[in-house]
Amino acid sequence: MVASRETFEDGTTMVSEDSHDENVHIPVMADEVVALLGGSRDPKTLDGWIVDATLGAGGHSALLLERFPRVRVLGTDQDPSILVRARERLEPFQARVQLERCRHSELADRITETLGAPPVGFLADLGASSLQLDLAERGFSFQQDGPLDMRMDPDRKRTAAEIVNRWDEEDLADLFYHEGGEGRSRRIAAEIVRARRRAPFRRTGALADLVERTVGGGRGRIHPATRVFQALRRAVNEEGEELHAALQAAQDTLAEGGILAVIAFHSGEDGEVKRFLKEGAREGHWEVLTKKPLRPTRGEERSNPRARSARLRGARRLRGADPNSPVRTFAGGHRHEKGDEKGGAS
Ligand SMILES: C[S@@+](CC[C@H](N)C(=O)[O-])C[C@H]1O[C@@H](n2cnc3c(N)ncnc32)[C@H](O)[C@@H]1O
Repeated sequence: MVASRETFEDGTTMVSEDSHDENVHIPVMADEVVALLGGSRDPKTLDGWIVDATLGAGGHSALLLERFPRVRVLGTDQDPSILVRARERLEPFQARVQLERCRHSELADRITETLGAPPVGFLADLGASSLQLDLAERGFSFQQDGPLDMRMDPDRKRTAAEIVNRWDEEDLADLFYHEGGEGRSRRIAAEIVRARRRAPFRRTGALADLVERTVGGGRGRIHPATRVFQALRRAVNEEGEELHAALQAAQDTLAEGGILAVIAFHSGEDGEVKRFLKEGAREGHWEVLTKKPLRPTRGEERSNPRARSARLRGARRLRGADPNSPVRTFAGGHRHEKGDEKGGAS
């Protein structure tokens, strides 16, 4: 048994005496996700591809492969180190799994190029993985000092340090306010600009200390730098644009009757999902299956604190691609030969 610390997206931390892996791999709202994606069907009869657009450590994918024995999973993630972990985890299901490195903004094309038929399910479990949040050297954490990085995709050019050291004061304040909900954004931005004249910010610890000194700390449930770090992470990874691309990819590729399930961890993100589906329902693309977002049970909140802020929404694709249509008519995609449909990540 080793003590391990896990940081959640709301900035709280859990110290556990269990094996670290035990904690990070618990898929959030697992039963609810399975129930949504399976619909009223017998799980044994659900057939076809499910896209797991936020593969992470493969927790949800493993579950879907277990519960739906005829389903195959296309798992995608933008982080190559995460794909390595997922590949290990999904080894027992290798013949029914295809893993691909891609961003949501590349996903619609990747789905049509890779799959032989329109998918029957699409899952997005938004945000960063504990595997990313907990590694100091990835630069997401205000509690463990690391380089001010925050890129989920290491090939992205812009790091958090570049934003903190180069953006002008007003843009920084707007970012903290709009993307992090930080009420004291102007004071924090002014102090950052003053401090960086002496020396540029390079480490998460230095930025977290400055925010704490500026707004005071220790009173609330969350660390005082939580909102600033959230805003920076959203900007570095272009999370707003990427979320929209994921939802659009689901709309453009799902088979008629296919199900979309999205788990959001911030009310702003959940609001974006809600708006997208509402508008899509008005235009006849979706039947919304969750009037209000589903929330985790108290039992799950207790056993997996990461689930606490989760909100799950689901919708059924109306007028999507015909699941029985010849593959060549599926949004321009092409069929892979049978033997191509297993195994490796790109
Ligand atoms: C919350 S984790 C998913 C955890 C996973 N459901 C599990 O059970 O292990 C989110 C994952 O989505 C990935 N991700 C986030 N935004 C992405 C994007 N725009 N494109 C591709 N992957 C993304 C992250 O790299 C991270 O691994």
